[in-house]
Amino acid sequence: MNSYIPEDKIEEIKSRANIVDLVSEYVTLKKAGRNFVGLCPFHKEKTPSFTVNSEKQIFYCFGCGEGGNIFTFLMKINNISFSEAVRNLAGKLGVVIATRHISANEKKSLSIREGLKQVNLAAAGYFSKNLFSEAGRPVREYLKKRGLKDSVIKEFNLGYAANEWTNLGDFFKRENISLKLVEEAGLIIPRKSGGFYDRFRGRLIFPIEDIGGNIVAFGGRILGDGEPKYLNSPESPIYVKGKNLYGLNRTKDDIRKNDYVILVEGYFDLLSLRNSGIFSVVATLGTAVTRDHVDLIRRYTRNLVVMFDPDEGGISAIERSLKLFLEGNLHTKVVVLPDGHDPDEYAKKLGREGLSEAVAHSQSMVDYYIEEIMGSRKTFEDNLDLTEAAISFISSIGDVIQRNLFIKRVSEKLNIDQELLKRETNRKPKPRTDLKEDVSGKWKSEKVDALELSFIHMMLEYPHKLPEIANGGILDYFTSEDLKRLGNILKQSYGKNGDISASDIVSGLEDGALKKRLLKLIMSESPYDVTVVDKIFADLAKRIKQKWYKKKHIRLKRELIKAQEMDDRKSCSMLLVEKQRLLTEEREKVF
Ligand code: CTP
Ligand code: MN
Repeated sequence: MNSYIPEDKIEEIKSRANIVDLVSEYVTLKKAGRNFVGLCPFHKEKTPSFTVNSEKQIFYCFGCGEGGNIFTFLMKINNISFSEAVRNLAGKLGVVIATRHISANEKKSLSIREGLKQVNLAAAGYFSKNLFSEAGRPVREYLKKRGLKDSVIKEFNLGYAANEWTNLGDFFKRENISLKLVEEAGLIIPRKSGGFYDRFRGRLIFPIEDIGGNIVAFGGRILGDGEPKYLNSPESPIYVKGKNLYGLNRTKDDIRKNDYVILVEGYFDLLSLRNSGIFSVVATLGTAVTRDHVDLIRRYTRNLVVMFDPDEGGISAIERSLKLFLEGNLHTKVVVLPDGHDPDEYAKKLGREGLSEAVAHSQSMVDYYIEEIMGSRKTFEDNLDLTEAAISFISSIGDVIQRNLFIKRVSEKLNIDQELLKRETNRKPKPRTDLKEDVSGKWKSEKVDALELSFIHMMLEYPHKLPEIANGGILDYFTSEDLKRLGNILKQSYGKNGDISASDIVSGLEDGALKKRLLKLIMSESPYDVTVVDKIFADLAKRIKQKWYKKKHIRLKRELIKAQEMDDRKSCSMLLVEKQRLLTEEREKVF
């Protein structure tokens, strides 16, 4: 799996990284006993069952069963490969991995992604330098006129692309960077006659970062009037619009701290709110809200405030997005903007105090939808449409209490029978089949021997007991081949290093029932007091042996019956002798 990344590098990363810090970048964790817990980023839940253990450097979700170590976490949350996860962490922790340790294939896709990020970083540097050069003076004045402070301009790394055809292309040529790559980043566009021209010309530049802080795309606003007002980078291997929220990388800490986020649509809206001292904000950049957006937001807070313009477009946007917010279990409120204002203008008008006030008094989005949108349509046809829309809505609400409340209020508002609404909404298929619901009981049916599993758990908890235990040969009595193998791995690992690493063991296991049960055990509170460890080990060993003998006896008995039926006396007496031997052996070994 990782043949091209040297083992010692992986070890170095593991020793430097801390899983609690790493996970905290994505999930708000609270200390609980010997673990940290938070809301699982891998499935939708309301009470925290996502558990991180810093001692063992592993995580496990009691809700959905996801679990593993630092690498597994990064792989799953960012949807990247093992080696990408290793490399990411290496970069962050300052561990140097030589490039010769990358396979050809991987080198290609990695180098493209890495290359694109580097190209964007270089371009952002170029644009920023431009903004603060003599040529950028009018743009700086434009920004000043729009009220942006220098600190915000710098924090968001704004820049300027001069109104020339090949400035950026020439820059990359001078830097000796492959123009193919610059083209793939969407910064230059090929001409039919050969060569390239710059995509962004005469525009104010907004670099767009992912939550890892990489610049993945750019937006460019025309200076003054003109069309199109905004030009954006095309999608690329590192940029997917519906999965990105502008500003989140800069605002996520504030969002988590304040436990709410204001959602706006534009670059200027976000910057303007920051500028006014309202820090918890993200922007969708004019695109419709997606499930990925909702999932991204939910990593930082459950409380969303939408700044909303009540024109036609705004209303249909609310209808579409409210459904996603409800499905995603976000508590959503709306601040309705006065006519013709966008959040940017509103922020400038109200200032920090006024904005805080508006947010504090914002109305629940569901209320708003029912009262203002449903309530405003009165004709018969409208009502029919609304009933359909309402049914579709209600079906998408996962939370039963919320759902019933909604049913009650809609039935009152639209004057539809409650029971009818209930019946209709139950008929609709369950929403969000792609989202993992709590499945804590699901894998329990898969067979993993409980006694043997407990024994393995004890081996992990009290590795210093391993030499003693191993001598007892208890693993030979294991009936689960998987657990036997695991036990032997632990034994060997201890023999070699004088210790064992839960994180290694867990990441070495394939996803499945065994891994889940093991993780669950490891994450539960320390099972036994140290003083009784010996006793527990002895007791477990005894019961495992008893079980093994019991199985043998049952098999013998079955063979005996068969032999008797066939009147096979020779076999009968042999089996009886064996039975006697087994009984004696059991007495010796077990008691
Ligand atoms: N947008 C875009 N392309 C356009 C228009 C808009 O990508 N042609 C996106 C931009 O991300 C923009 C957002 O939609 O920020 C909201 O659009 P709009 O409200 O028109 O722009 P503002 O951000 O308000 O910009 P300004 O205040 O400078 O007019
Ligand atoms: Mn605006």
